[in-house]
Amino acid sequence: MTRLQPNGTLWTDTDGNSIHAHGGHMLQYDGWYYWYGEDRRDNIYVSVYRSKNLVDWEFRRHILTTESLCEPYRVRTDLALFHEINGQKKKVNIERPKVLYNAKTKKFVMWAHYENGENYLDARACVATCDTPDGDFIYHGSFNPYGNMSRDCTLFVDAQNDAYFVSASRDNADLAVYRLTEDYMNVDRQVHTLFQGEFREAPALFYRRENGKYYLLSSWCTGWNPNQGTCASSHKMNGRWSLNYNFGDKTTFDSQPAFVLPYEKENGEVVFLYFADRWGGNGDKYFTSSYVVLPIRFDEYDHAYIKWCDACEI
Ligand code: GAL
Repeated sequence: MTRLQPNGTLWTDTDGNSIHAHGGHMLQYDGWYYWYGEDRRDNIYVSVYRSKNLVDWEFRRHILTTESLCEPYRVRTDLALFHEINGQKKKVNIERPKVLYNAKTKKFVMWAHYENGENYLDARACVATCDTPDGDFIYHGSFNPYGNMSRDCTLFVDAQNDAYFVSASRDNADLAVYRLTEDYMNVDRQVHTLFQGEFREAPALFYRRENGKYYLLSSWCTGWNPNQGTCASSHKMNGRWSLNYNFGDKTTFDSQPAFVLPYEKENGEVVFLYFADRWGGNGDKYFTSSYVVLPIRFDEYDHAYIKWCDACEI
């Protein structure tokens, strides 16, 4: 059994520094868990840490910053990673970075939510790549998939090995589900438009082999303030999804979903860990969050639920 760092705190890395991986994502690669997330300090956008046991986190690198290399590719994008105002670099916003490994191209591909740094009106997706999980990522720019608005987002690979980008569209009213191209560098098809007019954001997906169902957690739209989380499920990403039912309490234990990690215990049992942010609020200039991590359980109807624990044992 492993006891995770306490919930509702800013977890620390092996140097004793706070972990800045907000609105993040985790990728299992080569025996490591890589934790990517927002880091708004100085000129940084995205940082990555790694761990073998989810307790001891080694800081690896600030993988996307205002200094990152920008390279165009076949998709027409806006390559600006900052604005120049009176000779000063003004940062844009890069939120909810998610990273997948593409075995065909051998690239680590990041998708995130881009905004211009002034307001949330651009509502774009952006893409960056790297040859290693924790090297300097190359930025390939931001765009509106099929012209759609695209805000809170996630990446997910299904049981057939198809990759998806899911993002809040139409001013957050709907959640668009896009299958990605083979190289994960573009959307290939919009396969679903979920929860019409339900204003769900902060999507996080997982698949339970046991019952062959996909589960999608999301929050409602109340900015940095927490609200009632929900969950829905389906046998297919492009199939009929269940209605959203409540997940957690009225504030989802004062948290908002970042991602779900399928964690394999030594005995082979898979535990789904709800990783979430407890945002610092508008007064916090670095938009940091503390972390809330809870094991997801399932009731007799196979509905997902969570219970509070101060520092969970996994
Ligand atoms: C939240 C969203 C965050 C951030 C924030 C800005 O609803 O989940 O990622 O975009 O709004 O107000």
